[in-house]
Amino acid sequence: MQEAGVNLVSLGIFSWSRLEPAEGNFDFDWFDRVMDLLHEGGIRVDLATATASPPPWLSHQHPEMLPVLADGVKLWPGARQHYCPSSEAYRSAARSLVEAMAQRYAGHPALAMWHVGNEFGCHVPACWCDASAAAFRAWLRDRYGSVDGLNDAWGTDFWSQRYSSWDEILPPRRTPTWPNPSQQLDFMRFSSDALLECYEGEREVLARLSPDIPVTTNFMSFFKPLDYWKWATREDIVSNDSYPDPADSRSGMRAALAGDLMRSLGRGRPWILMEQTANRVNWRDVNVAKEPGQMRLWSYQALARGADGVMFFQWRQSRAGAEKHHSAMVPHGPLDVSPTWNEVVTLGRELAGLDAVCGSQSQADVAMLFDWESWWALELPSKPSNRIHQMEQVEAYYQALFDANVTVDLARPGDDLSRYRLVLAPNLYLVSDEAAASLAGFVEAGGTLVMSFFSGIVDPAEHIRLGGYPKPFQDLLGIHVIDFHPLSYERDIGLRLADGPLARGEVWSEDIRLHGAEVVATFSTSHLAGRPAITRHRAGQGTAFYLGTRPDPKTMARVLEMACASAGVEPAATVPGGVEAVRRSGRGKSILFLLNHRDVAVDVPVAEAGTNLVDGSPVHPGLMPLGPRGVAVIREGW
Ligand code: GAL
Repeated sequence: MQEAGVNLVSLGIFSWSRLEPAEGNFDFDWFDRVMDLLHEGGIRVDLATATASPPPWLSHQHPEMLPVLADGVKLWPGARQHYCPSSEAYRSAARSLVEAMAQRYAGHPALAMWHVGNEFGCHVPACWCDASAAAFRAWLRDRYGSVDGLNDAWGTDFWSQRYSSWDEILPPRRTPTWPNPSQQLDFMRFSSDALLECYEGEREVLARLSPDIPVTTNFMSFFKPLDYWKWATREDIVSNDSYPDPADSRSGMRAALAGDLMRSLGRGRPWILMEQTANRVNWRDVNVAKEPGQMRLWSYQALARGADGVMFFQWRQSRAGAEKHHSAMVPHGPLDVSPTWNEVVTLGRELAGLDAVCGSQSQADVAMLFDWESWWALELPSKPSNRIHQMEQVEAYYQALFDANVTVDLARPGDDLSRYRLVLAPNLYLVSDEAAASLAGFVEAGGTLVMSFFSGIVDPAEHIRLGGYPKPFQDLLGIHVIDFHPLSYERDIGLRLADGPLARGEVWSEDIRLHGAEVVATFSTSHLAGRPAITRHRAGQGTAFYLGTRPDPKTMARVLEMACASAGVEPAATVPGGVEAVRRSGRGKSILFLLNHRDVAVDVPVAEAGTNLVDGSPVHPGLMPLGPRGVAVIREGW
């Protein structure tokens, strides 16, 4: 570990059955030895509460703690994470383990932070058993107060679903056809909260027994089942697990987007890349190996996006168990001939020289609105089109800005947006009155907004906002939409931009009427030919663009270029294609990350003199060579 520059180890994540081999019977001796050994070696510990995989004795004694799917199938022990989040047997056994762990290790000098559970919801994001049904009912009582309130919110007059008592209400178990959409949405809210209660139950023990030690749990990038905005407020440090697929050319963009989310969830605080793989994973159909330099490049990318630490799953590749074919820092074979080990050691050595980066932060003038509730609602079935996927829409915007090296924060609708120049709203299907008002306020005060189709359609109960689409944004956008014309799988629609070129729209088209907006592009095919497709409207001091389709990638880039120009947004640096440029700054420092995602060398123009923190070499204005997947971290002004 010392050779690899390791200074923090996550420990004990799946060790419950060894730490507590029988109920209340703890065996810490072997664990003490590991903790002490790490401490003696100058390595600190991200100590797991070890509750992610219940031991066999627990499910044997309490079979009711096993999770049940919507169609009644029970998930049995034999893998991991086999617990119902609402199970009292699970929760109290977990808390008593955490109590014992905290009592034993709160004062241990190696302890740096607590790692609660692991990847909450990864395999079992929700449970439909009877205990979950009771917990769901309690959650609903809290939210609505009365059965009538619930009936209104769920629109239960439709299909004869009106409830007359709480006891009749169930989670959305498997039904003949679509279950009530408002019920489904509430169940998603409840399921995220039920897991959060598990986390909170453990955190409360830690806060009592070791109040000075920060607490985290590892997120999984854009993980649909958990509302990470809510979760992140309960963490001292945001941490993330990132497993981009080396076989997918969009992976670099996606990992950057996930990094931006983590920085934004922590409201700008540095975060930690808790898990990445040194080389291959084991859980895809084909587990393509990382190219030479790719692990190092993606590690630097996390730093560029605001991480102050880079870690791995896992230290040593195992001999047995379900993950023995997953790569590790220490591979099965000899170290001296392993390119993976060599890259791990290089990275560890380099990171030791990057202390200047810690505590600085990436600054963004652009925010993209992202809301879990809207994501859940957008992707419920029974819509004009099932082709609208939240992440595809988000990525369509983000790819263009990633390519242009414009740094983007993620923001929650309703946040104070006043520090941004440009706000993007890809398909904000569900919106609250407050969030709609804050967006209008942002534009009126001089901000630029780009919003796409099928936004502002429903309220938080998932009821249509009547009065023409998109009701809450009609004045802001200077348009209204008469009706939707979703595109079938084989069909795009022609677009003509006001300044000439022909382009394509994907997924969606609609019949837009103008109320003050000007036309940026019209549809050029179908019966909508000649009608507005993309519009721009001056509202107050600001400007609001509206996209009535998803423009093809080139056109999306053009529209966002227009929006950036109108908002005065600049890229972090002007660099050749395939090179990512991100700046971190703070405490009088400006640090420019240059990351070459290509497998060939490039010369990157550099405007300011400085020092390359990767190797301490001086940087002069002019062309800087970057090797294939090469990186530079330039502290400017030195
Ligand atoms: C994560 C998990 C690790 C390991 C890894 C494999 O989801 O936290 O325990 O399973 O994936 O890629």
